[in-house]
Amino acid sequence: MNLEGTIAHGAAQDLLNVVPTSAVLGAEIRGIDLKSLDNAQFEAFRRAWHQHEVLLVRGQTLSDQDLVAFSRRFGDLDWAPVQETGRRFVEGLPEIYIVSNVKVNGEPIGSLGSGEAVWHTDMSYLDVPPMASMLYALEIPPAGGNTSFCSMYAVYDALPAELRQRIATLKIKHDGTYNSGGYLRQGVTATNDPRTSPGAVHPLVCTHPDTGRQMLYLGRRRNAYLLGLELSESEALLNELWQYAERPEFSWEHVWQVGDLVMWDNRCTMHRRDPFDDTARRIMHRTQIKGSARPV
Ligand code: OGA
Ligand code: MN
Repeated sequence: MNLEGTIAHGAAQDLLNVVPTSAVLGAEIRGIDLKSLDNAQFEAFRRAWHQHEVLLVRGQTLSDQDLVAFSRRFGDLDWAPVQETGRRFVEGLPEIYIVSNVKVNGEPIGSLGSGEAVWHTDMSYLDVPPMASMLYALEIPPAGGNTSFCSMYAVYDALPAELRQRIATLKIKHDGTYNSGGYLRQGVTATNDPRTSPGAVHPLVCTHPDTGRQMLYLGRRRNAYLLGLELSESEALLNELWQYAERPEFSWEHVWQVGDLVMWDNRCTMHRRDPFDDTARRIMHRTQIKGSARPV
């Protein structure tokens, strides 16, 4: 545990061992079993999550029911999203989304395959996207498949004042056609026209409902569209903003071990995944906690 962690985290630190990463976001919580957090520890966990945006807890042994039960302490859950293979969930538990390249009898058991998953926020093509996602590692390949997270508070804070002013009242459409793996969602018509593709419209700059901090809300790059602008203007401005979002100094990369649980704030962070060897197996189970209101 580092000294900075002890000083900076005061009350939460008395209840939990919070060890921040050396990046702008992320912390590991050590020495807990998510099956048996008492209410005071749970509240400290929630505070640490608001502060660090992404939390890692290693060495967990969670059944699917345990994962759902812990997730539900934060609120109601959304069902697994519809992806390239339809709605891939755990039998009898539609809240558990399976991210996997594994095939059984030639049928994928999950979504996203083994390729890169590009920077994105989960399910922001919905009017009320989930406030959080929790990803639990069941099987991990020997190499590759690392997941990175970036802070959209840090990205917003880094924008020059002139650019912040230019985007202050803009609205952005978050596309619902393709997922982060580049696959067409089942049942959706392919399109590459950002102006007409299906999706949800959100403010480009949002205020986090719990922390009050401002953040840039990009969702994903493909088919994004800034309402009211010519397509070429929208593309140019989005490209400019994405150059900030993709700067390495705003992100933290996680190298998975079996038994890791990572919970991210799906409003103020984005994430991406490295590709991995498709002959290796990777199985992750995810829950998504419903948001309480449209982003504002
Ligand atoms: C997700 C996701 C990336 C990964 O579960 O939302 O984008 O690391 N997963 O599998
Ligand atoms: Mn995702």
